[in-house]
Amino acid sequence: MSLSSIIKNIPKAELHLHIEGSLTPELMWRLAEKHSVSLPYASVEEIEAAYNFEDLQSFLDLYYAGAGVLRDEDDFFALMWEYLTRCHEDNIVHTEIMFDPQTHTERDIGFDIFMPGFLKAMEKAKDEYGISSYLIMSFLRHLPEDAAFDTLSAAEPYYEHITAIGLDSSELGHPPSKFERVFKKAKALGFKIVAHAGEEGPASYIWEAIELLDVDRIDHGVRCQEDEALMDLLKERQIPLTVCPLSNLKLCVINDMKDHNIVQLLDAGLLVTVNSDDPTYFGGFLNDNFEALHQSLGIDEKTVRTLVANSFKASFLPQEQKNQLV
Ligand code: HPA
Ligand code: ZN
Repeated sequence: MSLSSIIKNIPKAELHLHIEGSLTPELMWRLAEKHSVSLPYASVEEIEAAYNFEDLQSFLDLYYAGAGVLRDEDDFFALMWEYLTRCHEDNIVHTEIMFDPQTHTERDIGFDIFMPGFLKAMEKAKDEYGISSYLIMSFLRHLPEDAAFDTLSAAEPYYEHITAIGLDSSELGHPPSKFERVFKKAKALGFKIVAHAGEEGPASYIWEAIELLDVDRIDHGVRCQEDEALMDLLKERQIPLTVCPLSNLKLCVINDMKDHNIVQLLDAGLLVTVNSDDPTYFGGFLNDNFEALHQSLGIDEKTVRTLVANSFKASFLPQEQKNQLV
């Protein structure tokens, strides 16, 4: 079997995926028409052509604007259902999905609208595809910590459906320390904790995420290589990194996929996984990320299998289930 077929057919988990970042240009266009939202694009092709980014912020500006077409429960259902259908096609059997409540509550669209839409699609995917899915509620770090506290309170009726709390959006200038108190509360409530760190931000942000937020995983984390002591800690504690190669390329964290350090991180003994981040904005879903690593870095079948096994190891699935999958 070719490596491309192995990549396609092997059952895998995805651990770093923003549901708002899986909005296809076609669905964006359809929902804009449905709600009479005016988009700054004349066609679906123009939306696709706009997806050229210089850095994280230039992407986030389009990503938040794109999410503006999501208005009612059916829209959030359609968004989640399209992603989970793609998971089925790509043989993703378990996925841990981030959502950004503040992107919606700031537009007066509340938990009672997006949560039922998400949950119905997740239940349907469980029934029809056998896919298990967890939710990670992420705070927007460019907003104040008080707004994160408000979001944590507003989510209370849905706590049983949320597995972890995360931190995303503009990294530089918004270190994990800004959110120390609210993550302490989230941890006390029993949530798992993740945080984006070391994507654009320095290694010190990864230290803060570990020491101040007590994270269970780091999202991205590719800048950890700048600090040897940090590398030692990540290895010793096997704190997973959810790495997103096509995202790193599209947001100019690296200039060429050949420069990606994922194999070096693996070789250094770190628990590294592959993920798609915002697949419709970055030009590829999960299998495309594996394929890009194969094409540019020449990763072989053994490495693909290690990365896939890591995706289950690093997941928040119960241990018994992980043992069956790895
Ligand atoms: N980084 C930070 N925030 C995000 C990202 C990302 O890659 N995607 C969606 N929100
Ligand atoms: Zn991300």
